[in-house]
Amino acid sequence: LFAGQCDFVKGVVAMSGLPDADRLEICFAGRSNVGKSSLINALTGRKGLARASNTPGRTQEINFFDLAGGLMYMVDLPGYGYAEAPLAIVKKWQELLKSYLAGRQTLRRAYVLIDSRHGVKAVDHEIMKLLDRAAVSFQCVMTKADKPGAAELERSIAKTAEALKQHPTAFPEIILTSSEKGDGLATLRAAILTLSQQ
Ligand code: GTP
Ligand code: MG
Repeated sequence: LFAGQCDFVKGVVAMSGLPDADRLEICFAGRSNVGKSSLINALTGRKGLARASNTPGRTQEINFFDLAGGLMYMVDLPGYGYAEAPLAIVKKWQELLKSYLAGRQTLRRAYVLIDSRHGVKAVDHEIMKLLDRAAVSFQCVMTKADKPGAAELERSIAKTAEALKQHPTAFPEIILTSSEKGDGLATLRAAILTLSQQ
């Protein structure tokens, strides 16, 4: 799935611009700066595929990537929460992001990224509730596992697992990743592959 080509298809700024819902789709959602774009680059082994940066609010469009020559779309979303961009623009892309998450017919699974140092915040719960209501199954991916110490990481995982219990469409299993060090990438690739085979 990730061995072949993976190409950028298009960036979308309005629901009307979405590509045809004619194939399986997965997406990466999460607070600004959590590491969504970096994770896509790490999964595909292509550094510059999705634009990542240290500025929260880097990704401002819904970016579609083709996986395995038309088999599925992998979608990089703008972040939610704090962003370094004008408020009016931020509001616009946050509305788009919510419409997309709640209304995309072919969205098979959302991966909700949680920073392993920060855990699940109120805005994350809000997005998870939206996914619950829309009956979109989601799995939690904890990012930047290379940053906290072992004990902090343990605590953070336990807390996150507890937080997920409030959400009926959440998977109980958490995937722990580091785009920097490569942890968890094989597990996440395998999970996505399994989806494509169902
Ligand atoms: P927005 O598009 O602004 O919502 O951000 P994003 O969620 O796409 O985050 P992005 O991938 O741009 O990464 C944000 C910052 O975190 C960058 O400086 C990355 O280098 C850094 N980062 C991402 N993943 C990891 C990781 O696994 N480990 C470490 N140490 N840093 C990471
Ligand atoms: Mg991004």
